Amino acid sequence: MRRPRSRLWYEGLENTPHRVYLRAIGFTGDDFQKPLIAVVAAWSEAGPCNFNVLPGSLRVKEGVRSAGGVPLTVPTIVVNDGINMGTPGMRYSLISRELIADTIEAQVASHGFDGWVGIGGCDKTQPGIMMAMARLDLASVYIYGGTAEHGEVDGEAVTVQTAFEAVGAYLRGLISERELARIENAAMPTPGTCQGLFTANTMAILAEALGLSPLGSASPPATSSERARELARAGALVVGLVDSGLTPRKILSYEAFHNAIVTLMAISGSTNAVLHLLALAREAGVKLTLDDFDEASRKVPVIAALAPAGKYTMVDLHNVGGAPIILRKLLDRGLLYGEALTVEGVEIGKLLSRWEPRTDYKILYDFYKPYKPYAGIRILRGSLAPRGAVMKIGASGILTFRGSAKVFNSEEEAFKAIEKGSVEEGDVVVVRYVGPKGAPGMPEMLKITAAIVGAGLGEKVALITDGRFSGATRGIMVGHVAPEAAVGGPIALVEDGDEIVIDGEKGRLDALLDEDELAGRRDKWSPPPLPPKGLLRKYAKLVTQADEGAVTQ
Ligand code: FES
Repeated sequence: MRRPRSRLWYEGLENTPHRVYLRAIGFTGDDFQKPLIAVVAAWSEAGPCNFNVLPGSLRVKEGVRSAGGVPLTVPTIVVNDGINMGTPGMRYSLISRELIADTIEAQVASHGFDGWVGIGGCDKTQPGIMMAMARLDLASVYIYGGTAEHGEVDGEAVTVQTAFEAVGAYLRGLISERELARIENAAMPTPGTCQGLFTANTMAILAEALGLSPLGSASPPATSSERARELARAGALVVGLVDSGLTPRKILSYEAFHNAIVTLMAISGSTNAVLHLLALAREAGVKLTLDDFDEASRKVPVIAALAPAGKYTMVDLHNVGGAPIILRKLLDRGLLYGEALTVEGVEIGKLLSRWEPRTDYKILYDFYKPYKPYAGIRILRGSLAPRGAVMKIGASGILTFRGSAKVFNSEEEAFKAIEKGSVEEGDVVVVRYVGPKGAPGMPEMLKITAAIVGAGLGEKVALITDGRFSGATRGIMVGHVAPEAAVGGPIALVEDGDEIVIDGEKGRLDALLDEDELAGRRDKWSPPPLPPKGLLRKYAKLVTQADEGAVTQ
């Protein structure tokens, strides 16, 4: 029998003062004999995504107590992606992923916890929590705070994505101010995360595929009684994990990452997941590269019609059985490693056998008749992205584009040009200096892509950037270009009018420029200054490129 970690802090004569601190908050003598569990609440009232996490932590605590543990809640931070989209605040979003992992490490490692449960919601809280799980390698469970429900306008489902795109439509005179206001009021009727298969819901589903969350726990809405039960289940599970010694790194095998990547392709999930899985693999000590994504993207079609590739939301998926019905299909097709372990202490294949195989050709399709023949993501390399770039094709289905560059050094400049109507059919909008070091913080874009779609140019204009896209974006998009402009990547050398070729079939991203021309431009290039102080400066100094997960080291 292993000695519980908490005993080092709280057992014996020399630890009498430590016990005093916990007795001060109500501990009894018996409590010191039980597993001490941290309930890490990524809680904030600054937006809907993590609004319910604090009340949700009470459910987790009930679960911990019911299984014989003693829970204590500790916080971690939240930066809300949607609210910051298109503002200077967006620079802090990806940075917050690192801060979340670091603050969890500091709190869980320093208070003698035997295990912990992390409750996440908005995009970065989830990978941040999972990275801390891999880093600490203590008994732990990731549990999602849950998605928001979608709204309705004139019988049509509306989501926050509808609202972003409605702005572009209004600017072009396609809808009235009143219609825009109706969408604003109806788009998000409850707290919870964005409703479609954007980054938050993508990461929640991938947490199940990775084995870090209980199966079936991703899809119940934030405000449902099923969500309350899932939270309690996670609390009970972690106590068993302390006992069994099953820790995240035993779960996070290469096979687990393969399962997550295949799932990402089949659901046409957010491109941000590429970045987060690379970062998580680094924490877990698993060798994962963009090639793993490329390989999966070429053999897995899209079988789920979830927004933005399709029109259905996470709640719709929940109503037909949740993420396990997708995973079961992948398993039956031989695309998942069924022997990969999960936090439930059981192999994922065995757990999935409890779910009935199903297909409705509405939300879930079959492999011989997929929703889309191509996976939603392609990895590109070429003269514009020697270390790689991520193309999102799930929503557009378009694999190739050739056009002339229109270059902008910030998202704002690009947005203004689209607003003025100076971006036209055949343009390749290049938005650069928005990579991990450049912005810094690799801000996510939705405003520009939504404006392009709203202007009716969704399939007539392409966008290339060293930044990221929101999971809700649609159109022809290539992001995560590495190396980024701020470190002198070739994207920094592109000029207005250069011919650019995007070829998702061949996996290429090229600027049609000869070597001499490029060399001449490189001689004139100089790096932008670092931010003068604070978190942005620290981050810019430490962060790696997108093809390495944009982690700080
Ligand atoms: Fe938080 Fe979308 S803004 S999940």
